[in-house]
Formats: sequence, C-alpha cells, structure tokens
Amino acid sequence: MSKAGPSFTCTACGASHRKWQGRCEACGAWNSIIEEAPLSAGPKALGGRGKAMALSDLSGTEAPPPRAGSGMEELDRVLGGGLVPASAILVGGDPGIGKSTLLLQAVASFARKGLPCLYISGEEASAQVRMRAQRLGLADAPVRLGAETNLRDILTTLDAERPALAVIDSIQTMWLDTVEAAPGSVSQVRAAAHELVTFAKRRGVAVILVGHVTKEGQIAGPRVVEHMVDTVLYFEGERGHQFRILRAVKNRFGPADEIGVFEMTGGGLREVTNPSALFLSERGQSTPGSAVFAGIEGTRPVLTEIQALVAPSPLGTPRRTVVGLDSGRLSTILAVLEARCGIPFAGLDVFLNVAGGMRVTEPAADLAVAAALLSAREDVAIPAETVLFGEISLSGALRPVGQTENRLKEAAKLGFSQAIAPSRSRLAEVEGMTVREMPDLTAFTGEIFGAG
Ligand code: TYD
Ligand code: MG
Repeated sequence: MSKAGPSFTCTACGASHRKWQGRCEACGAWNSIIEEAPLSAGPKALGGRGKAMALSDLSGTEAPPPRAGSGMEELDRVLGGGLVPASAILVGGDPGIGKSTLLLQAVASFARKGLPCLYISGEEASAQVRMRAQRLGLADAPVRLGAETNLRDILTTLDAERPALAVIDSIQTMWLDTVEAAPGSVSQVRAAAHELVTFAKRRGVAVILVGHVTKEGQIAGPRVVEHMVDTVLYFEGERGHQFRILRAVKNRFGPADEIGVFEMTGGGLREVTNPSALFLSERGQSTPGSAVFAGIEGTRPVLTEIQALVAPSPLGTPRRTVVGLDSGRLSTILAVLEARCGIPFAGLDVFLNVAGGMRVTEPAADLAVAAALLSAREDVAIPAETVLFGEISLSGALRPVGQTENRLKEAAKLGFSQAIAPSRSRLAEVEGMTVREMPDLTAFTGEIFGAG
C-alpha cells in the first residue's frame, strides 16, 4: 500500500525522494528538489480481467522504418538517416544555444521536401517566429505555425491537422489543465511529454520536443523526459564560440554518439560538412602543447586539436583545468605519466582544452592528451604533420583502438603524413601516411621527447 502524501522530486533528473534534502543523491544536483502534490488519479486496483494480448514470436522479417530526409545532412545523419514517422525526439540544450533556430530551419527543410509540418511555439508569439523565419530566408516554406501553451488545444489542433511532424518549443512551457502544478514543474513536464509521445505513436505524427537545460530551481530539465522518447539529441556549444554540435545520446532508430556540426552565423545555422578542417582552422604552426587527435564521432572521423599549458603553480594544490574532456581522464593520464614514466606534474598547473568547443569522449584520445601534456611540459613541439590515437592503460601500455583506417584516411585527407599509434593496431595501408607504432608510453616519451 502506498501512502498518498506529498512527494519530493528532483527537477534535474526526476528522481523521487521521501523527504526534502539539499542535494539529490541520484544526480548530485544541489537545491533541485521540490515538493510536488501527489498525482490525483492513481491506478485503481487491478480487480477486473483485462483483454488477452496478441503475442508473436521473434522470427519474421520487418522492413526498416521508412525515413524522411530533411536535406540538412548533418541533422539527418544524427537522426540515424532521416526522420522516422511517429517517432518522438527530444532536443535539449542550454537556453540561447540555438535550438529554436535549428528546429525552425529543420521544419522548413522538411516542409520544402513535401512533409506536412507544424511548429508550435510556447515561448514566442507567432509574429516573432515569423520575423525570425524571414531573417533566415524561410518565409516561403509551407510550415503551419501556432503559438500556444495549452496542451489540450494543441492536441486538438494536431488531431485535426494530422501533420507528419510537429515541433513543440518548448516542453517546459506546455501545461495540462488536468495536472495541478505550475507549468515547468516536473509533473507538468512529465505529463505533457507523456501525452505528446502517446499521441505521436497513436496518430502517426512525429514530434520533436525542445527542452531547456536548467541549472537549478523550479523548472524541470529535459532529463526528466529522456526515457519517454525514442531519440535524445543535445545541442551543445561554447558561449562566444560559433560552433554548435548536435549529439545523439540515445537513438532507438540509429547509432548513438553520432554528431552533426553547425556554425551559427548571422543568417542562422550553417552545416559544417568537414568538421576536421574547421576544428583545425585556428591551428597555426606547430607550437609546444598542441597535439592533433584522430578521433571517431559516431560513424565519422573527426580530427581535433588538444591543447595543453603547463606552468609552475603558486598554489599548494596545483590547478587542473579541463575544457572538452573528462577531468577524471586527465588525472589518470597524469598519474600514469608520473608512476610509469617518472615524469612528475606535482607543483605544476595543468590546463587542457579541446580547440573549437568540441567535447571528446573517446578513450582513444589518451595518447594525444599525453602528447600535448608532455609537449607543453618539455616545451618541445610535436611535428606539425603528425596525428595521434591510442588508449593508455594503467600499466602505461598503449592499447589499440578501432576504426584505424578511417582515422588514417581522414588525416591523410587533411594533409597529415605521419601517425603515432599503439603497437598491434590492425593498420591498413593508407596512401601518404606512415605509422609509427609504440608499445607503451615510456617508448613514446623516449622517442618523441627524449624524456623519461
Ligand atoms: P535561439 O534559437 O533562440 O536559442 P534557444 O532556442 O536555444 O534558446 O538562438 C538564440 C541565439 O542565436 C541568439 O543569441 C541569437 C543567435 N542567432 C544568430 O546568431 N543568428 C541567427 O540567424 C539567429 C536566428 C539567432
Ligand atoms: Mg528557443
């Protein structure tokens, strides 16, 4: 028997707690727990008999879902090859990062391809959206536009219009009159998302929900609805940087980890079809502290520059500042360099950065990170025509990584001629590339920097 009392919910991750506390144990967020009224209509006891379900077995062939392409290649690829009918997609991101711009451009592209599309804004008046569309040169696209926050009216409209795609901008502004909570609260956001996702499945309308990432406070974040949708995309970028990355973190209809790269310009988002060239564009002559990592993002190779700065620290506990990489990974690599290669970083401030606002999550970046750190510490530049990849184990050995051929080909395409890779990598011959294989970090430091 569950007691119907007040419940406490984390607005960041949606976890429920029995009592209020300052910090959510589930996600670690501070000050994110609020009290919510219990749901009025709980499930009744399952006294009656239900209907027997129709069951099937696992055999049989199913055609892959038909997909609609938008013509925006970066978007279509992140979706797994286009939009799947009746799918529910969440696009999360910081306020002001460009979600509304991206989705207005996306619906316009889908609509121009003949897909009936509806764009519903709960944040801006129709006139504002029209002004933006004009500025983006999309005014002629056959998109139906509405400004509304009442979900009952929205669902009625969707039911009458039956578009193939509806964009809801944003889920945090939507409210249901059946839920007694403020718009933006966890229960409203959850209930609204549930209604929209069920509607999508039942009526065959694909929906894209926009969700603002919230730092704290009374507004529920997009994580609260992640589990309800088929696809979760995050739109990321550094403030003051023009690059934007659309990243699939969950996709029932395609690979996760796929990225699409865009550039924010005065005329909206421009697709970046060759991100490697873009990420390396700020790179001048080879300077100490810079290493080029030949990475893979989803199905595509992407080269990024890892930059390190190492300087004597005035502090008792030296600084470790990381942008675009996991800070735990940096600590591990520093520890391996110290313990296995005898190269200490104690008493030194370390700053590490991935150029261009990119975020690198692959362990294959370890070797490039170590190279940038050593290059900065020894003040020796890594030869400009060199890329690196390889995972570092705690023993200091270099572990081979996958997709070496793609990495090498991309490097060759961008004018690199040498790669440093772990021994036993299954390497393909790539024209114009010579590969130096290293068994471990000690061999690497000895050969490249004469250190260790
Ligand atoms: P917006 O799409 O409104 O962000 P979100 O919906 O994620 O909150 O984008 C807002 C920012 O984008 C705003 O600061 C201005 C900038 N922007 C451009 O630089 N160029 C453009 O063409 C547009 C439409 C917006
Ligand atoms: Mg917006």
